[in-house]
Amino acid sequence: MTGNRKKKGAFGWLITAITFAAFIVFMCAYSFAGFPHPSGDNAKGTKNYEDYDTPSYCGKSCHTDFYRQWQQAMMSQAYTHHWDEIEYFKLAVPHAERDEKVAGVKAGCNGCHAPIAFLAGDVPPPRPEEGSRANESVSCDLCHTIVGFEGDTPFNYNWISDPGDKKYGPRTTGESPAHKMAKSDFLNTTEFCGTCHNEKSPYDIWVKSTQLEWKEGPYAEEDIRCQDCHMTTTKMRTASMGNEYDDAWLHLFHGAHDPGKIKGVVELRLYSDIEEVVPGEPVKFTLVLFNQKTGHKFPTGSVEDRIVWVHVEAKDNNGKVYHLPVDKKGFEGEEYTIGSDELAYQDMGIALDEPDFKGVQRDGIPVGDRIFRMPYFDPQGRMTIQQWNTASLGVDYRFGPRETKLETYTFTLPYEIAPGELIVTATMNYQKLVKPVADFLEVPEEEAEIVVVNTKADTVNVLP
Ligand code: HEC
Ligand code: HEC
Ligand code: HEC
Ligand code: HEC
Repeated sequence: MTGNRKKKGAFGWLITAITFAAFIVFMCAYSFAGFPHPSGDNAKGTKNYEDYDTPSYCGKSCHTDFYRQWQQAMMSQAYTHHWDEIEYFKLAVPHAERDEKVAGVKAGCNGCHAPIAFLAGDVPPPRPEEGSRANESVSCDLCHTIVGFEGDTPFNYNWISDPGDKKYGPRTTGESPAHKMAKSDFLNTTEFCGTCHNEKSPYDIWVKSTQLEWKEGPYAEEDIRCQDCHMTTTKMRTASMGNEYDDAWLHLFHGAHDPGKIKGVVELRLYSDIEEVVPGEPVKFTLVLFNQKTGHKFPTGSVEDRIVWVHVEAKDNNGKVYHLPVDKKGFEGEEYTIGSDELAYQDMGIALDEPDFKGVQRDGIPVGDRIFRMPYFDPQGRMTIQQWNTASLGVDYRFGPRETKLETYTFTLPYEIAPGELIVTATMNYQKLVKPVADFLEVPEEEAEIVVVNTKADTVNVLP
């Protein structure tokens, strides 16, 4: 009996050892897969605000330059900026509370806009004027404790954050009295940016795909990454007491909120098919548009809000102005790419508790002007600026990186046109937010400010 027991005991030990070994292997695999740092929606409420250093701690005495650069970039205002506050509190939160399908965005918006608040489970975070730590927006310590992402495709805040004393950066050299340092190659990838710059709606539609657009384009092939255009390098100290490097990565993150970045994105050429014209006869103008600057599509990111359009007009010798509408090409969905006075965005009525809301003007630009956009549609098939309520997408008539498009304008000269010089001008305009929506939601003017991307003129001679 005793011997038997002893035997069983040894066997039992073996089982225990195997179980223990299996447990260790399992735990390693599990922690490799992200535990104890879950990502995406699973990361909500898994950390505390105190786990992260504040930007002013990082920037006030050590990383003084980067701190000032970051403060001037939208990264530091992702939660506090007026339009973000309005869209989140006026539309997204009430909509999420009324519609089960989009309930997740009440927390989810903050996964990218106020990541530390999201990690702390502070949902919805206090309003910006209350001065909580949600206001840190996309902070230094959030980015510098990201160690990777979960899955194959970066999107919807699926970054993995491992906060603590160790800060990840691009170098092995250098020492800091304030924290440990570790080199991370991940920070230099476009996937890092893609964790927030690619977004899928609750209807499983790609409503932001800046990194995916880049990946399909020529810049990916040439290995010119987001960082190369938005975090350019120069000779500088990366910390006030630290080493100077020839290639210090600046924290500019300049984009749509920097008119200088928008200007000249697309180059224009305009010419007529004949140089001398007679009243009553048609003249055809060809406009060549070349996207020479963006590494992704133009517009990208918040495509549901942005509007890029070309206005063409002719001025005769007496100063009389004629508007030239674009020639239709006849592709499917083209009606969304030509300025119209139709109403749209009726789904704002859900959040505003006005079920019969008629909408506001779709474009707010001259009727007949060509628009370079991709319309977003709500589940009822109406155009929406609420990317979380997007159930399908329309025709993609934006500029790909280095793409050239052609537009034509056929103008039949009216009989009363003045003889002499006829000057035809094409102007490409850009607005961050369609004007009628900005007006309706009382978003400060600057969000619908018109930025002239480029302009080009041609002259023909009108014969008497
Ligand atoms: C070849 C240079 C280049 C590369 C590479 C590049 N960008 Fe851009 N990016 C631009 C330019 C120019 C603009 C300004 C025009 C515009 O808004 O699209 C811009 C604009 C943006 C904007 C603002 C868009 C808006 O409407 O608010 C974001 C966000 C952005 N880029 C992110 C990225 C990310 C993420 C990557 C990498 C996946 C990237 N960029 C790669 C040149 C580049
Ligand atoms: C959106 C994410 C993001 C934010 C926010 C951010 N950084 Fe960075 N930072 C980066 C990336 C990415 C790099 C490295 C670029 C590369 O390797 O391509 C970097 C590099 C650095 C470096 C090393 C530079 C070098 O050339 O060695 C320092 C130091 C740094 N950041 C400090 C800060 C500080 C301080 C703040 C806040 C004021 C901050 N960062 C905010 C993404 C971020
Ligand atoms: C943790 C999420 C997060 C990561 C990671 C991130 N971004 Fe952003 N980024 C944002 C958010 C949110 C905004 C929008 C701020 C706003 O307008 O509300 C933004 C804004 C920007 C803008 C400014 C657009 C404008 O309108 O002016 C640029 C450019 C940009 N990011 C580039 C990058 C690049 C390049 C990387 C990678 C090195 C990166 N971002 C990584 C969240 C992120
Ligand atoms: C996956 C990350 C992510 C999620 C989730 C997300 N955003 Fe954004 N958001 C961004 C980025 C990145 C930009 C900047 C894109 C650009 O510059 O065009 C942005 C831009 C914006 C802007 C435009 C600001 C401006 O004029 O440039 C608003 C408003 C906004 N987001 C509100 C929201 C709201 C409300 C939600 C939730 C329903 C939300 N976002 C969810 C990443 C995200």
